[in-house]
Amino acid sequence: CIDAIGTRNEFVSCMNNIIPFVNTSTYVFTSGMPMYSSLVSSQHNPRCSNLTESLRPVGIITPQNEDEIQAVVICSREHGLRVRVRSGGHDYEGLSYLCKTPFVIIDMRNLHSISIDIKQESAWVQSGATLGELYYSIAQASQTHGFPAGICPSVGVGGHFSGGGFGAMVRKYGLAADNVIDAYLVDAKGCFLDRESMGEDLFWAIRGGGGASFGVIVSWKIKLVRVPPKVTVFNVNKNMDQHAIGIIDRWQHVAHKMKNELFIRLLVQYVHGDQKTSVQALFNALFLGQLKDLIPLMNETFPQLGLKAEDCIEMSWIDSVLYFAGLKGAPELLLGNKTDPYVSYFKAKSDFVTKPIPQHVFVRIQEKFHEQKLVFMIMDPYGGRMSEISKSHIPFPHRRGNLYNIQYLVKWEVNGVRASNEHIHWLRELYKYMEPYVSKHPRSAYLNYRDLDIGTHRHANTSYLEAKVWGEKYFKGNFKKLTKVKSKVDPDNFFRNEQSIPFA
Ligand code: FDA
Repeated sequence: CIDAIGTRNEFVSCMNNIIPFVNTSTYVFTSGMPMYSSLVSSQHNPRCSNLTESLRPVGIITPQNEDEIQAVVICSREHGLRVRVRSGGHDYEGLSYLCKTPFVIIDMRNLHSISIDIKQESAWVQSGATLGELYYSIAQASQTHGFPAGICPSVGVGGHFSGGGFGAMVRKYGLAADNVIDAYLVDAKGCFLDRESMGEDLFWAIRGGGGASFGVIVSWKIKLVRVPPKVTVFNVNKNMDQHAIGIIDRWQHVAHKMKNELFIRLLVQYVHGDQKTSVQALFNALFLGQLKDLIPLMNETFPQLGLKAEDCIEMSWIDSVLYFAGLKGAPELLLGNKTDPYVSYFKAKSDFVTKPIPQHVFVRIQEKFHEQKLVFMIMDPYGGRMSEISKSHIPFPHRRGNLYNIQYLVKWEVNGVRASNEHIHWLRELYKYMEPYVSKHPRSAYLNYRDLDIGTHRHANTSYLEAKVWGEKYFKGNFKKLTKVKSKVDPDNFFRNEQSIPFA
């Protein structure tokens, strides 16, 4: 039992001592201050705010620069506090703002500047920026550049890049983390480091190994990628009857082998129509090229979809970002509120598929979807550039041999333990059912779709054997190297959470 008020006062006075000329009340918020409550509750998945074991943070810090982050790390260490770092706040299990022992939150919202250098085809982006802000800034500077990261514009750069990050250009350019070329980070001693001073091992670890185990990443230097002035998108919807299941089967065989410029995502979802409800398969695509080239390509490789010119729209890359996000209007919409449009109770799990799943499984999935209302299976094809990059290039190992990634997602609207348990149970049953049909030894998972069901630390967050169970699902053979980097750069295990990297 700690003296919360005493700790809070000591922490704030420590911050004042380190940064004497800055008024801490402008960026350190403790309970009782007006901003505190709104900052505590500014999370994305309200399911996590119901997790009663978490304490309320001793303080929430919204730093304006790296000095203030360094001061938080030093003062938290001195006063036995843990640190949680929140960029966009989208962590599926709330690990950026929940903790069972006394802690502070570093909220990166004020560190969201973006500086684009078109001549060098690169940019510096701070961790508190959203993907939407990044895409918007690139498009303001150039109509022929983009960046291959996630589809939802409210996602934060900090968590997304440090966990991998993929979107509609994954087949052409790989992950967001594959395109990071430098970074600034505050380490466990409070030192401010760039790529050269942190060394290649730590720089390797923060690109896909999860930033929260290694430090606070302040900003990232990224390589911009080229996009044509016009791209083509389409959405084709099919009712999940036997015919559609045949098309899904074909998609499983071809989506990962098509030209790298073509990305066709498959979304299976339960849809409420005016007259009746049905389960539908939505084929949602981005082609980095023109319609005149897309139609012959589809006729040759995937005629079963029956794509017609009228299903397709040519647009700029930035408009395709809005299209994929389901937003209609000007690119300024990408600068919208960090969380609002996507807030809901949800639980997700993930898989990787290495062999096409038999058609009868999709028949059963369709039946199961009728038991729930807000359920989704989102399947993102790999292949292309993802198969060219080595499995150990960065900690994200799911490369050659993977046909596609699956995200299973269930949402619900009613608050309460009963509703949560019921929906989560349903999702776990679906996950159990899928086991024979997905990757094995280990059954793999994607860190950015964080899932505490696959294992958490029990004691002091240091057991290699315990952590290996989920660590190898996320990182396969790269887990061992991550534990070695961890032992070297954070020997006191200061940066830790329920699924952080343990020591070697
Ligand atoms: P958040 O701030 O919660 O951070 C997530 C984790 O990273 C936490 O452990 C946190 O402590 C740590 N962290 C954050 N900032 C850090 C920093 N500066 N330094 C060190 N550690 C830091 N993924 C994907 O690949 N493609 C996609 O298209 C999508 N789409 C998508 C849509 C929606 C609606 C959601 C909720 C999520 C996704 N995701 C996704 C998953 C997303 O990539 C994942 O949740 C990211 O971790 C979110 O990063 P945030 O910064 O928003 O989260």
